[in-house]
Amino acid sequence: MDISALRQIAQQEQIRQKPVRINCCTASGCASSGSGAVKKNLETAIKAGCHDELIEVGSVGCMGFCGRGPLVIVEASERQLHRQLYANVTPEAATSLVKAIASIRLIPLIPPIPQPHHHTWSK
Ligand code: FES
Repeated sequence: MDISALRQIAQQEQIRQKPVRINCCTASGCASSGSGAVKKNLETAIKAGCHDELIEVGSVGCMGFCGRGPLVIVEASERQLHRQLYANVTPEAATSLVKAIASIRLIPLIPPIPQPHHHTWSK
């Protein structure tokens, strides 16, 4: 495989990716503390809120903080979310996390431009 083929694969992957990706650690440490239920709730909340075009869920391996699991990392291209690690995530918190991400996305990144105030000068 040459470099142009690799660049094409990278470009296709960038196009395919959704704006927000939530990665849930499903390695043994986090799995033993309930990451399966956390991941399931993430997927359920995305589907229930019709956020399929906005958020995707993935599994990742051990991130090295096994004692703080289940761990979830949110990665987004937008400044407001950027990259955030959450520890000791419960299934209920996973549902709330999806709702919070979706609500943040509804806030415009650029605030409305104030309209100039027009005065009418009488002579
Ligand atoms: S098993 Fe999840 S951080 Fe190690």
